[in-house]
Order: sequence, then structure tokens, then C-alpha cells
Amino acid sequence: MNNKEVIIFKTVGDMADFVMEQWEVISAEAIKARGQFAAALSGGRTPLVLYKKLSADKKLPWDKTHIFMVDERFVPYESGENNYHSISRTLLRHVGIPAKNIHPVLTSEDSAPASAKRYENDMISFFKTTGDKLPQFDLILLGIGEDGHTASLFPGTLSPEKSKRLATAVSLKDEAIKERITITLPVINNAGNIMFMVTGGNKANIVREVIEGNNSLLPAAMVKPGHGRLFFLLDESAGALLVKT
Ligand code: 6PG
Repeated sequence: MNNKEVIIFKTVGDMADFVMEQWEVISAEAIKARGQFAAALSGGRTPLVLYKKLSADKKLPWDKTHIFMVDERFVPYESGENNYHSISRTLLRHVGIPAKNIHPVLTSEDSAPASAKRYENDMISFFKTTGDKLPQFDLILLGIGEDGHTASLFPGTLSPEKSKRLATAVSLKDEAIKERITITLPVINNAGNIMFMVTGGNKANIVREVIEGNNSLLPAAMVKPGHGRLFFLLDESAGALLVKT
């Protein structure tokens, strides 16, 4: 696949600046073509620098920007572990984005599967998808966990059944937060642009396996866009074990 780009940055700030530049271009193109820009944002700590920088950018077309989440932990909004809460606090509250343009995974439902169903319905009505047609995000931001998970697609949780859905609940035995909701691999792979942001030497091994491993079945390695662009944005320590770059 030739549409995969690996870029190594000195600092996470430089990485965030790169994403900001891309965000400007991708959002302008999407709005020109379709009148709106749809992005799905990652949870986790790595993108917080980017979200802070974006929050100060008043020039971006926030009124035509729609923000979704790639995943959510099934905890109340008030919890420090809630991705929507952390993205709201760092980014959404500070920009003039209309409330109707924000598409959280609501954890006020009775169960994680019910939250996933509600989120799936939100995607269907926003993207007006029917039949087998998948939503097409203009941009999806992702992270990688030390075990090779991405979004809340953890090793051992991928199944053909789940792949028929747009969003699904995931139950984990060994994680502190056991119930999560995530968009599925087919939705990720249908995006126009996918950007992994990864930092830290503790991720160097897994980054090498995801980028250079042959036919790895790790969830992050199964992110292979059908037609879009794929970026691995790394800091020097996360990229330290790569051989081919
Ligand atoms: C989440 C995620 C998850 C995350 C990785 C990396 O909600 O936890 O979306 O997939 O991106 O675990 O997290 P860090 O950026 O905190 O290392």
C-alpha cells in the first residue's frame, strides 16, 4: 500500500502543528465538496496537546465542522475517564462549534450496547447511510495502546459479527474500565484520512510491529484504509525501533 506515510517529529507540539495544518486543508476540501467536515477524535492523553492548540484556532470553520468520538469508556460524563468530557474541556467548549455539530457517545444509556446502538443511529442519520453503505469520515484521529489496541478495538475483540456494525460495545476482562464503545474497523478503514498519533518509548515495540510487521493481526495493524490516506505520526522515542524509515 503506497498511501501510508510515517513521519517522526521532535516534539508532540510539532506533531500537533502538522495535524493542525492537515486539518485546515482537509476541512476546507470537505466543506468545498460537501458543505461540511466530519472528524472522529481519539481519546487518550497523546492528542490533548493538539486539542489545546485547536481550541485557540478561531479561524477554523467550526460552524461546518462535525465532531464524533472514535471511542468512549462506559463511565458517567462527570468521570475523569470520560473521553467526551476531556475533549469538551480541552477543545469543544472553547470554540464556536454549534451543539448540534457535536456527536458524543452518550453513556447515560442503561448499558454499553445501548449506548453503541444510539451512537450508531446518530452516525446513520448524520451520514444518511442506507443498506451496506458505510459512513465516510473526512478525518479520523487514533492512538495506539501498548498492547496494539486502537480506539477500543482490543486484541481478541474483533469479530465478523462486530464488523457488521458501525459502533459496538466491547467488554474487557483485564482493563480498569471494562465496558467501552467504539467505532468499528470497517468505519475506520472507510475514512478519507486516518492519523495515528503515538509518543513514548514504551510504544516503540508495538509501533514497529504495527508498521513493519507482516500480516500482524493487532487491531492497530488492521487499520488499512480502502481508499484514504494513512499517517503514522510518531515522536522520536515511539519511532526508535523502526528499521525501514
Ligand atoms: C482511549 C483510546 C485509546 C487510546 C490509546 C492510546 O479511549 O483510551 O481512544 O485507543 O488512543 O490507548 O492512549 P494514550 O494516547 O493515552 O497513550
